[in-house]
Amino acid sequence: MDAYSPIPAQDLLEIEKTYVLHTWQAAQTAWNAPMIVGGEGPWFWDAEGRRYLDLSAQAQCNHLGHQHPAVVAAIQQQAAQLCFIHNAWGSAPRAELARRIVEKSGLAGGKVFFATSGAEATEHAIKMARWITGRRKIIGRYRSYHGATGNAITLSGDNRAWSTVPAPDIVHALPPYCYRCPFGLSYPACRLRCADHIEDVIQWEGPETVAAVFVEPVVGTNGLFYGPGDYWRKLRSICDRYGVLLVADEVMTGFGRTGEWFAWQHWPDAAPDMMLLAKGLTAAHLPLGAVVLNRRCAAYFDDHPLPTGLTYAGHTLCCAAGLAAVQVYEREDLVRRSRELGAWMHGRLREMAERHPCVGDVRGMGLFAALELVADRATREPLAPWPQVPPALSRLSAQAKQRGVVLGIRGNLIILSPPLNIPSADLAWGLDVLDELLAGVDVSLAG
Ligand SMILES: Cc1ncc(COP(=O)(O)O)c(C=O)c1O
Repeated sequence: MDAYSPIPAQDLLEIEKTYVLHTWQAAQTAWNAPMIVGGEGPWFWDAEGRRYLDLSAQAQCNHLGHQHPAVVAAIQQQAAQLCFIHNAWGSAPRAELARRIVEKSGLAGGKVFFATSGAEATEHAIKMARWITGRRKIIGRYRSYHGATGNAITLSGDNRAWSTVPAPDIVHALPPYCYRCPFGLSYPACRLRCADHIEDVIQWEGPETVAAVFVEPVVGTNGLFYGPGDYWRKLRSICDRYGVLLVADEVMTGFGRTGEWFAWQHWPDAAPDMMLLAKGLTAAHLPLGAVVLNRRCAAYFDDHPLPTGLTYAGHTLCCAAGLAAVQVYEREDLVRRSRELGAWMHGRLREMAERHPCVGDVRGMGLFAALELVADRATREPLAPWPQVPPALSRLSAQAKQRGVVLGIRGNLIILSPPLNIPSADLAWGLDVLDELLAGVDVSLAG
């Protein structure tokens, strides 16, 4: 019995459709989904009792599945003691969470600025980069996403930005997308042309005007690529050469998703100056975002103003959830699990790809993988022009849902990002279903 059970499920669905504006819809009338009433681990279920195995972790944020008991208990305990105290006062959950994040980040001597979402983290990192460097321009990359607010959506180099009036002083560079290299080259003969290109952009924009380069170290929904060889290290040295800050957007990749605490740690000697966090920070039990500043960036604010803030920055209840989530990642050794179970998942996907001609490429790291679907494996012709979702993939996604498996879909990509603690048998079953459904994708019906 819950607060809504006197209202029949069908009526609740009508209320939902009548009163709620649903995000990222081509048309509100197209929105159609069941009412979800509960969840546990990687599973959730609707009012009719249909169960779904979530291989997308609810937009890549549910790292611990639903209702992790330790996080729920920490929220309940904190709620009973103190739900909220403003930034003007000290608070143990915020202090302890910040300490743990700095420890895990490897940015020794750093500090944490709290926000409530990934977009807010991006906004504040942009402001801070400008204050710290005294420069105004920010470089992002095409095929990236950094959030839906003013500067963050302009920084996002994808179609989600097209409908927004751009914010000033944000420019884009080409991404290190090897499968479709924008320079028509291949590694290692390319000698990291994509990194040199960032240097070109800095030079053409005027190095003394460029504050920062913002990069997803492993790109999220735009394709799960991360550049060849030492791309990240080269990027670091280019930024150093021009006094430009390197900001790692780890909103999607943080907290073990790629098999390290943070994705840039795959290249551990090339630390960013700032890091953006959200999603896995509380494993989505409550909303929380953060900017982690390295020692030098944090020290700037020792004797300069920080003229910004959010009412709910470092919300007490959310920080208690974040602290509990970080403790679970440690206690259950989930970063290692992401690496190991992820290696198994990638092997299974590669083996599947060999048998299904519609799969052009398998990419990713840890429990984060993408299949890129193509009409022709030899020419790499996309199944549909980006960012359209090919009808065959919409069908596959709907069939998977009917079978009780939820996949992440964007353009030609099937994105797999299960909770890090998913039982291996559940993951294996979900991938078996995907395998069966891929057999039904007819590449001759591309478009
Ligand atoms: C890499 C990245 N940065 C920023 C964001 C924005 O986060 P939020 O939706 O919490 O504002 C997202 C969201 O998907 C993301 O994937």
